[in-house]
Amino acid sequence: MGKGQLQTEKLPRHIAIIMDGNGRWAKQHHLPRIMGHRRGSESVREVVRECRQLGIEALTLYAFSTENWNRPKAEIRALMALLKKFIRSEMLELHQNNIRVKMIGDLSKLPEDVMPAVREIMDFTGNNTGMTLNVALSYSGRDDILRAIRNLVADRRTKASDITEDFFSSCLDTAGQPDPDLLIRTSGELRVSNFLLWQIAYSELYITDVLWPDFGKKDLAKALRDFQTRRRRFGLTDEQMRNG
Ligand code: FPP
Repeated sequence: MGKGQLQTEKLPRHIAIIMDGNGRWAKQHHLPRIMGHRRGSESVREVVRECRQLGIEALTLYAFSTENWNRPKAEIRALMALLKKFIRSEMLELHQNNIRVKMIGDLSKLPEDVMPAVREIMDFTGNNTGMTLNVALSYSGRDDILRAIRNLVADRRTKASDITEDFFSSCLDTAGQPDPDLLIRTSGELRVSNFLLWQIAYSELYITDVLWPDFGKKDLAKALRDFQTRRRRFGLTDEQMRNG
């Protein structure tokens, strides 16, 4: 993607993506669902590279929701195997590109055999400063909020008056990162599906009919060009924004 066609000073700091449509892609191609996920991991590779090149600060990908545990066992196993394979094959390149990988969500629910790879990539890339790639695994926005509240209640040191919006943001899985400026959803569904509920309060939404395995850098560029036409007001009036 040529940076020229985009206004580099108006890029989102944080992009979040609901990667939907792998199953539909597989069906369209008369393939088993897992082939859709496999092609989906190619899209992950392309989009991560592109975001890094553009200088995006944070990219958050919804890879597996808390609800996805209800899928057929074989599909869950295949997705977990794909994740391990992705970590093994991409870790070095991600590190060389100065990308910090953070797995977010309730990691205690992940199968034991996935955890060593998850821990390894987080440790190995943990000090990188070029971009943060959050991979949401066993994640839901409500669960993120509930885990934060449970930790606060268990800790007992926090006073009610300490709990400001900034403080609460710092208790969530995305602590220390800016909220997403842009939320992309592929494959046309008009839902947020329990993703980053607190963090997307003021995100611009971009929904495309393109299925995730077909989503590439051209589609990302289209989303970014669309984002650059938006007038973000954060609840203020046009006049306040002009004078602000
Ligand atoms: C939604 O498509 C996608 C998922 C539940 C899994 C997303 C996983 C990947 C893109 C690959 C692995 C990820 C990484 C980070 C390597 P769906 O199955 O709900 O599609 P459908 O709605 O068309 O059935």
